[in-house]
Formats: sequence, structure tokens, C-alpha cells
Amino acid sequence: MEIKIKAQEKNNQRKVYIKTYGCQMNVYDSQRISDSLSVEGYITVNSIKEADLILLNTCYIREKAAEKLYSDLGRLRIMRAKYKQTPLTIGVIGCIAQAEGEEIIRRSPIVDLVIGPQSYHCLPYILKKVEKGTKIIETDYALEDKYMRMPLPKKEAIRHRGVSAFLTVQEGCDKFCTFCVVPYTRGVEVSRSVEQIVLEAENLVDGGVREITLLGQNVNAWHGNSSSTHEWRLGDLLFRLAKVKGLKRLRYTTSHPRDMDDTLIAAHRDLPMLMPYLHLPVQTGSNRILRAMNRRYTALDYQKLIERIRAVQPNIALSGDFIVGFPGETDADFEKTLKLVQDVFYASAYSFKYSPRHGTPGADMSNQIDEQTKDERLQRLQVLLGKQQQLFLQSKIGTVIDVLIEKPGRNEEQMVGRSPWLTPVVLKTKAPIGTMLDVVIEEAKQNSFVGRSQE
Ligand code: 5AD
Ligand code: SF4
Repeated sequence: MEIKIKAQEKNNQRKVYIKTYGCQMNVYDSQRISDSLSVEGYITVNSIKEADLILLNTCYIREKAAEKLYSDLGRLRIMRAKYKQTPLTIGVIGCIAQAEGEEIIRRSPIVDLVIGPQSYHCLPYILKKVEKGTKIIETDYALEDKYMRMPLPKKEAIRHRGVSAFLTVQEGCDKFCTFCVVPYTRGVEVSRSVEQIVLEAENLVDGGVREITLLGQNVNAWHGNSSSTHEWRLGDLLFRLAKVKGLKRLRYTTSHPRDMDDTLIAAHRDLPMLMPYLHLPVQTGSNRILRAMNRRYTALDYQKLIERIRAVQPNIALSGDFIVGFPGETDADFEKTLKLVQDVFYASAYSFKYSPRHGTPGADMSNQIDEQTKDERLQRLQVLLGKQQQLFLQSKIGTVIDVLIEKPGRNEEQMVGRSPWLTPVVLKTKAPIGTMLDVVIEEAKQNSFVGRSQE
């Protein structure tokens, strides 16, 4: 009898499907939302057709990302008309929700709710209102840490997500680079408290997590109060988190060059568990364009900073973001970007064509660059960055590196782990998920290693 009731409950259980676009912070947010909804009786499903509630967690950073939302909503409209007999709630959340608000429902009336990133803690309450037939648009900015009001993940959910986890410590940005929508979609810089972060890290480790990546749009601008006399910076937080028992690796992303302070550099020197891999976007190598972007450093400042970091941690590998075709960028400016890439040497990088974003100063600049020039520059930059990535991977052949085992591989007795630089490493081992192994790198593929365990 009891079993029957349980089975029935399961059938009646509401199902949510969350589609995540964009950055790691959206991945983290989707997980926190899934955790909140699980307390409300929802299970998170992987099939859109099964769902009673569909949430699209959107990205606004470039135009292409935003366009995806409307084509997906078009497909959903057709799917709902064709297949869906039961009620279906559709929500648009994330950065497009914040930026476009009610315009989304105007363009796509199948949408029932629109919630910006600062209001996720209200989602259960909003869903109850939506169930009664009201459409809701919630795009207020937060005054405090919203994550504090959301339940932490249960052990089962943590285990399901794997041994490497994200933890948002800072959100928003006050820098106002002239190309970027983040200050308008994620709001001003807000740092979470030391206690909240430590509590969350301990909960993750308790559930089996061995590697934590601290997230923030401007993660190294994180600051907080502790019981000591000085205000903590990200370096202090990393030293504190290194004390969490069972945690084996720490990372953080994304940083701004202006906020790389001495404590953070010292953390790279003194904390072996802080991975020697730094994502430090420079965007361009031209001082003229850096100024137009309001980045507030020069190419030389950036290179000197890299030198300081390499002096204390010679093994550090760099990753970066680049924008080509920012308004006014000449061939000579672009050559400076190529030169900087050659001088710095990147283990990996992301590069983008400039995409004018409504409401940002860059979009109103008169000297926009044509698409063909952007395409050509992006192509040249990506060839150079691709070569550097290959050289970097090749340089590790024959060396012994530490690998965190993450999941089973395709073949029997094969496992896949991660190098300190996030490269997937395939190897034969019986070591369980979560183990750290010393691995000899035997082969470098396009974007992965083949290794042999030394155990
Ligand atoms: N166009 C192109 N790339 C952009 N980025 C941010 N805004 C834009 C834009 N309008 C890139 C930057 C940033 C990364 C997250 O996205 O390189 O570091
Ligand atoms: Fe955007 Fe980063 Fe500049 Fe902030 S620092 S405005 S998030 S590019």
C-alpha cells in the first residue's frame, strides 16, 4: 500500500526542465534554482517533453546569445501546440529577463514569467502566483545576497553533479567597460559573506566535492569582513577555504587585471591547492582601444602584472578573453593584440567579435567596424591562439601532473580526470571518482591528454 502511494506521488510530482545558456554563473544559478524547487516538490528532468515547468536561463552578453532565446521560444510554441496536453508553465530567467523584462512576453506570449538574476529566491512564491493564472515580471535589483535565502543542495544533488563544483562568491560589476552589459544585467558588485561561502564550501565537500571554482563576474573584486582587523580580499578567502578538510583544489574566475592584488598573488605562491591556471582577460593589446573600452590599464601594465605572477608561480598557465573589431580598431591596433598574445603566451583563450549591445557606450560609438574585417581578424587571432594551445599541451608530454578523477571513460577500466589547467585526461585506472593521481602524460590530442597513472 505504502509503495503504491509513493509511486502515485512520484507520478504527480511536478517536473522542471532548466535550459542554461551562457556562463558558469548561469550554470551555478540553475543548480541553486533546481535545489530551491526540489524543496517545493519539483524534480529536475532532462527531457523537455516531460516537463510541467520550463525555465530558460538566458545570456545577454552578445547578440547571438540573445537571438537563441527567441528561436527556442518559437520552437517551444510549436511543441506546446503539438504535444502538450497538460498545463505547461514557461519562464524566462537570467540576463535577458533582466534586460528586456516585459518585452519578452510581448514578443512571445507563451511566456508566463520573467525573472531577473536578483530575484531567484522569490521563484517558489512567484510560481504559486503563476499557477493562479497571473503573468509575473520581476526584475528588481538585489540589495543583499539572494543566495542566502535559497536552500543549499542536498547530498544526492551534489553527488549527481560531480566532484568539481562552482560557488558564486561575488556578483555584478562596477567597472563599466564600454562594451559590456553585465553592470546593467547583474547590477552593482555584491560580495557574499565569508561565513556563507565557507558554509556552502563545507556542504559541498561533505557531499563529495573535491574541487571548487569560485565564481564572480569580477571575482577578484570580492571583499568581505572577517573577525580580523583588515577587510578580506579574495586572497584571504582562498587561504581560509584551503583549510576546509577534504577539499583538494581551488580555482577562481573571472578576474580583472586591476584587481589582482598582492594577497592574491601570494595565494598563488603559497597555496599548492590553488591551481596554477589563471583566466585574466586583457581584451586587446592596443592602448588606444583599451582606453576606449574603459579598461583602465595599458598593455604594459598587463604584461608587468603577468611577470609578477610568473615570478612567484613559474608554472602558471594563462587563459584570456579577447574582443576583435571594437569601434575604431585599426589594423595597427589589431597587430598590437597579436603582438601581445605572442609576448604573453596563452594556454587557452576565448575570442569574440565585438557585438554592439544596446544601452552600452560602445554601441553608440560612430566608428563601428564592418563584419568582414571582424571575421578576418577573429580568424587570424584564433589561428595564433590555437597554435599556442597546441604548443602548451605538447610541452606537457613526458611530465608528471596531478589529475582529479571525475568520471568513467568510454572503455572499461578507463577514467577521465582533469589536469590543473582543466584539460581532460584519459587514463586506465581503478581509482574511484574523487581521487587525485600522479599521471605521466603520454599524448596530447587537440584538447585532451592521454596519460598513465603512476600508482
Ligand atoms: N561583444 C563581444 N564580446 C564581449 N564580451 C563581453 N561583452 C562583449 C561584447 N559586447 C566578452 C569579453 C568578456 C567575455 C565574458 O565576453 O571578452 O571578457
Ligand atoms: Fe563586463 Fe568584466 Fe568589464 Fe565588468 S569588468 S564591465 S563584467 S567586461
